[in-house]
Amino acid sequence: MTAPCLIFEQLSSEAATHDRAGFISGEAALDQYLKTQASQDMRRGLANVVVAAKPGSNEICGYYTLSAASVDLTDLPESLRGKLPRYGQVPAVLLGRLAVAQKAQGQGLGALLLADAVKRADRSELGWAALTIKAKHDKAASFYRRFGFHSFPHEPLLLWGSRRELKALPGLRRDRA
Ligand SMILES: CC(C)(COP(=O)(O)OP(=O)(O)OC[C@H]1O[C@@H](n2cnc3c(N)ncnc32)[C@H](O)[C@@H]1OP(=O)(O)O)[C@@H](O)C(=O)NCCC(=O)NCCS
Repeated sequence: MTAPCLIFEQLSSEAATHDRAGFISGEAALDQYLKTQASQDMRRGLANVVVAAKPGSNEICGYYTLSAASVDLTDLPESLRGKLPRYGQVPAVLLGRLAVAQKAQGQGLGALLLADAVKRADRSELGWAALTIKAKHDKAASFYRRFGFHSFPHEPLLLWGSRRELKALPGLRRDRA
């Protein structure tokens, strides 16, 4: 039996630690990003790239990126807007990309990566009120809606979840799978 992907850690640019070239999710742009752009984005401070890896191996089973972002207060629904001060922009975290290797899909890893992203964002010292996600297509958006994320009315592939909602979601508990 092969080891499960239980290590969640920052991407290393060393192939001996993380084999970026061997990652295949079935979504070419997401595979290409990991191969060619991710390490550079980390160095430049544009994104934090976290991978799910197998203990004792350089295989990457999945990854996600987190960056600082902001959301226009007017884009949020009244239910959330009403509880926030009228700053104009609301501090947010952007889950820019998330992908699971084809051979690891359908085994709960996508949910674990999402849970890890929420947990890391929550533990950071930054203030933020919403986590936003840019989904590549409607199939990906439906994955995030499954966990309670909402589409922005003007842009259905852009989703958000409030910090309070996300922390309370039983579907995002790390011990789920
Ligand atoms: C979308 C993706 C991240 C899902 O990861 P995964 O590991 O296969 O998903 P999981 O096994 O963790 O599924 C968790 C739950 O979501 C459901 N789910 C999975 N994909 C779904 C989808 N596209 N729509 C709705 N629900 C979905 C599962 O059925 C499961 O439900 P359950 O808890 O009731 O059993 C993965 O298929 C992937 O990387 N696809 C290619 C890249 C991509 O499209 N990324 C998103 C781009 S923004």
